[in-house]
Amino acid sequence: MEMVTLTIDGEKVQVPKGTTILEAARKIGKKIPTLCFLKEINEIGACRMCVVEVKGARALQASCVYPVSEGMEVFTNTPAVRESRKITLELLLSDHNLECPTCIRNLNCELQKLAEELGIKSIHFEGEKHRSIYDDFSPSIVRDTSKCVLCRRCVSTCHKVQGVGVISPNHRGFETMVAPVFDMSLADVACVNCGQCILACPVGALKEKDDTDRVWKALADPEKHVIVQIAPAVRVS
Ligand code: FES
Repeated sequence: MEMVTLTIDGEKVQVPKGTTILEAARKIGKKIPTLCFLKEINEIGACRMCVVEVKGARALQASCVYPVSEGMEVFTNTPAVRESRKITLELLLSDHNLECPTCIRNLNCELQKLAEELGIKSIHFEGEKHRSIYDDFSPSIVRDTSKCVLCRRCVSTCHKVQGVGVISPNHRGFETMVAPVFDMSLADVACVNCGQCILACPVGALKEKDDTDRVWKALADPEKHVIVQIAPAVRVS
């Protein structure tokens, strides 16, 4: 196997050719933050949380998809790297549903954890929020795209792990939304209700169905949320 030697933050490391900077860094215990990366399932360089400086490269590079090369010099914690990660995260948070205290993933959310690790105290960006869908018609999975960070981990898991492929990024640019085709409900496509997408989701955009949630939403906004199933102990009049 052909090996490649590089330095990461001044430390020498030898890895097989084709290894990414992220994997090489992990080999010597360097922590690089990631969000969209899911080993061998979702390696698409979408979120840019894992950027690093590579000597000689014009811009910061996403370490999860950048292959190492002989003599490469990588810096994982420079002011430019820290600034870039913070801005990226603030931009994500500026378009995120921030009802964290009532979110099922509160204190178990990768986005929240990153914000804490990167020391985000406030969000400097204000603006429009993307159009979102709350889909609770599936018998087992609830999708809330107001919390989606477009990492595509659920998409890759549904396609590559389960071989089902019922969700994908629809539309373009700011309108991009991970959803079944034509933004249909998961209840109306060939979803097998396996729940693997929920496990892959880093935030609370996908969760297990809990009928009490549907009831509360219907009580709050009866025009938008229709109760088709009510838990036996709950009555709505
Ligand atoms: Fe590398 Fe998302 S973790 S781009």
